[in-house]
Amino acid sequence: MYQKEYFRVDFVNSKVSIKVKSDESIYEAAVKAGLQLPIGCKYGGCISCAAKLRIGKVKQPGATALNKRQSKIGYVLLCVAKPVADCVIEEGIESHNELYQNPFISKNFKR
Ligand code: FES
Repeated sequence: MYQKEYFRVDFVNSKVSIKVKSDESIYEAAVKAGLQLPIGCKYGGCISCAAKLRIGKVKQPGATALNKRQSKIGYVLLCVAKPVADCVIEEGIESHNELYQNPFISKNFKR
């Protein structure tokens, strides 16, 4: 019989820690815990729920809104991200400072 695992997820900006089942999205668990986070499509297509994974690991099938640069610097989409280890996440729009690059002023513009 398959047993669900739980992982601890710490939200840096909210200073809240929650338990998240391995088969639920971090966003779903956060809402159940009373956190309000940016949200849009809820299927990985719009990037509204992007947050920075500081420590840990997630699986996020369907996270099509992230480009290679964003993934490489740690962005995850909380609406589809499910934990596979304990995580520390910088959440909310406060974490979006490196999400976008202005191609007209960025010398090292990368997609
Ligand atoms: S809400 Fe649209 S990508 Fe997560």
